Amino acid sequence: MYGEGDPCAAVMVIGEGPGETEDELGRPFVGRAGALLDRMLLAIGLPREDVYICNTVKCRPTFDDGVRLRNRAPAPAEMLNCRGYLDEQIAIVQPRAILCLGAPSAKSFLGPTFSITRQRGQWFEGPNGIPLIATFHPAYLLRMTGGELNAAKRLVWGDLQALRARLDAPPPETVAEISQPSLFEP
Ligand code: URA
Repeated sequence: MYGEGDPCAAVMVIGEGPGETEDELGRPFVGRAGALLDRMLLAIGLPREDVYICNTVKCRPTFDDGVRLRNRAPAPAEMLNCRGYLDEQIAIVQPRAILCLGAPSAKSFLGPTFSITRQRGQWFEGPNGIPLIATFHPAYLLRMTGGELNAAKRLVWGDLQALRARLDAPPPETVAEISQPSLFEP
């Protein structure tokens, strides 16, 4: 499964890999985690159709627990194998910002030392110089309850606000143009 959304999107959302529902339907983030992602994006005024959504790996990473196939995080070698597709997607969409969901996605750009607990919500220079920010994966939130969930939700909300603020800031060219005094002088 490749990805879906607006090919001219300002935001590219990058998850880990397709889960069972995504594998069946051939679309990213259409299961329970996807429904939560849709709500997270909408909370900052981004309908799902306005972003581009894809994953670090294009096939569902699984393991057999003896009864059924279960999801697992993609291995670094698997992410490397799919990296060409992801680079192609980034080159086509040329988003203004990348939102990585979960540690594996962020690590695939920022390296193995990236810590989702310490470094989520911070801006980094991503591929092709595109600003990149990471937050907790919605599937991780779905595994939490009570106070732990509320605390994590607050952090995610802050991360999403940071993304919104960057999208609302004028692009660098505009700042340069505005600060050109000659434009206003006779
Ligand atoms: N989790 C992901 O990381 N990607 C999907 O597409 C679905 C769930």
